[in-house]
Amino acid sequence: MDIKAYLEQKRELIDKALKKHFLESKEELLKRLKESMKYSLFAGGKRLRPILCIAGAEAVGGSSEDVLSVACALEFIHTYSLIHDDLPAMDDDDMRRGLPTNHKVFGEAMALLAGDGLLTDAFYIMTKQGCKNPERLIRVINLIAEAAGSNGMVGGQAVDIESEGMDVDISTLEFIHCHKTGALIKASVTSGAILAGAKEHEIKAISNYGINIGLAFQIADDILNVIGDPKLLGKSVGSDIEKQKITYPSILGLDKSKQIQEELVKKAISFLNIFDSKADPLREIAKYIIERKK
Ligand code: IPE
Ligand code: IPE
Ligand code: MG
Ligand code: MG
Repeated sequence: MDIKAYLEQKRELIDKALKKHFLESKEELLKRLKESMKYSLFAGGKRLRPILCIAGAEAVGGSSEDVLSVACALEFIHTYSLIHDDLPAMDDDDMRRGLPTNHKVFGEAMALLAGDGLLTDAFYIMTKQGCKNPERLIRVINLIAEAAGSNGMVGGQAVDIESEGMDVDISTLEFIHCHKTGALIKASVTSGAILAGAKEHEIKAISNYGINIGLAFQIADDILNVIGDPKLLGKSVGSDIEKQKITYPSILGLDKSKQIQEELVKKAISFLNIFDSKADPLREIAKYIIERKK
């Protein structure tokens, strides 16, 4: 299959749906907040988490229609996490998605609020429309909330910040990566499968796939921060060393990091053995995650 064409087609679908789901307001007083939210949401981005949600549904015989509002909500949550991650009190970054970071344009207070707005609106979007299967939806909302919250992404971000400049071991680093990045990626693909009516053993397999690609994705992010092209990435490189971030390359070196990435992708794909060719997009996405240049 042509994974590039697949990703492009789904990205377009998601961008359209994001426009539809964004909570517009005619209220003049909310103009700046809404501008700030839109600025980051529509700055580009690979839309990987919503695409994984769709591909997770397709793997078990579902379609993008079944999952579009949840897919959009995942991108809202991810975008909030990027805005907050870039703040001066966090990673203090100037560039994101090829543009100046949100706080550089709108100020720190508005950037915080844009993130808060996106996070909270995500839950509004997921629960707004009538749903064919409320039980599945509640399970998915619970999964996403756990993945984004203090036992997931926020927890990982906290340990990431606390570990700056510290001499942490590889198991702590694995914890950080699996939480700050892996948790939402795992929840994205698993949500798609659940919404599409996957059986329990299928959900388990897709969740294991998600855990492995989630960690591989963040190791790739670490590697790109060393050897990536800032123009392609749309964000600065070399910032991890500057901020004394603990990363796979900083602890294990580039070669070993690349080797671990590849092993994780192989392992992820092996969990898909129970599925037929409908899971090919998931198989190809796993490879793409470590081959990507942005
Ligand atoms: C960047 O995520 C932040 C991490 C969790 C590593 P992406 O690389 O998916 O960023 P966008 O959405 O394409 O901008
Ligand atoms: C981002 O991790 C994780 C979240 C936003 C939750 P990084 O800080 O390593 O990602 P980049 O390199 O800034 O995108
Ligand atoms: Mg960070
Ligand atoms: Mg960062």
